[in-house]
Amino acid sequence: MYNSEIIGSGMFVPPRVVTNHDLAALMDTSHDWIIQRSGIEERRWVTEDLVTTDLALKASEEAIRSAGIDKKEIDCILFATLSPDHDIPGGGCFLQPKLGLTDIPAIDVRQACSGFLYGLSIADAFIRSGQYKTILLVGAEVHSKGLDKTTKGRDVSVLFGDGAGAVVVRRTQVRDPKTDSHIFSTHLFTEGSSAKELWIPGPGSALGAQRINKEHIEEGLHYPQMNGKKVFANAVRRISECLLQALEFNQLTLDDVDLFLFHQANLRINQMIAQELKIPPETVFNTIQRYGNTTAATIPIGMAEAVKAGKLKKGMLVGSAAFGSGFTWASAVYRW
Ligand code: UT7
Repeated sequence: MYNSEIIGSGMFVPPRVVTNHDLAALMDTSHDWIIQRSGIEERRWVTEDLVTTDLALKASEEAIRSAGIDKKEIDCILFATLSPDHDIPGGGCFLQPKLGLTDIPAIDVRQACSGFLYGLSIADAFIRSGQYKTILLVGAEVHSKGLDKTTKGRDVSVLFGDGAGAVVVRRTQVRDPKTDSHIFSTHLFTEGSSAKELWIPGPGSALGAQRINKEHIEEGLHYPQMNGKKVFANAVRRISECLLQALEFNQLTLDDVDLFLFHQANLRINQMIAQELKIPPETVFNTIQRYGNTTAATIPIGMAEAVKAGKLKKGMLVGSAAFGSGFTWASAVYRW
């Protein structure tokens, strides 16, 4: 039986900075409201010419460079996104030729905010089974082209940003789990009865003969809809719960963890989790203040930035957890 390890990370955000003041010019909101409720100061939005796989390509190239591998060694692409370049096929199919690769499988993961950890779990399982040896896992989103930027959509649109993160996951043999880089475990969860608490209703077969029509668009059914308070409360509960469960599964404690890399939906969610679990705040690495919620990209962006900031070093034990649309949530415990 094999194990897997993360051997490289990369990230890319588009250069265009959108501040809270910029948003206040588009809708009835304010810098103070956004900061107080979410901790977000600014986010990045693409210019019209850029698509999701453009961001994914740059993040992937950096991850491949940092892994020190030849891209031809990649034998599978896993692509987590809720905002692909096109409806069909998945984003991974468009990324593959941009990377100059061919024939290897490209699989999209649609688990929104939990997409990266779902992808990591799939990568780990593929590698453990021996099916693939070197997997490129990408989380990438272009949210800015799919938000209602009027006052009607303000509860959602101020939270989201564009960006991409990527990692290379590779087969390894673990001699000493106390020092050797590897993924200890991943755990995945879904509560589908809450699917409509955070969703994008259309286009879809449930919307009638054409999947979407003019009336649906006028109603805004192609924009994300969210029951913010319910999502917030469940995020705090489920992230805390699944993290503790993962540590117990590995006979580890919160004190063993050197760095916590949680999904970035709201700074207050992560502060509340740290408070409830009595985790020292300095061990939680947050990027939401500068990038907003980039959904599937938040955790790999956090990895790449933490490495560059010297906060994530080889041999450190990391605890990651995410929560989002589905509801889905997930954890991963790994030694970097
Ligand atoms: O990745 C997972 C996905 N997302 C999340 O995890 C997000 C979870 N939820 C949240 O982060 C929070 O619920 C929000 C930040 C979305 C909202 O914060 P809240 O403290 O739950 O505010 P609220 O929804 O209760 O709204 C309070 C007030 C309302 O006005 P009234 O009814 O009190 O007059 C809203 O209409 O704030 C108003 N409001 C805004 N005001 C200014 C909502 N959005 C905005 C806005 N600017 N952008």
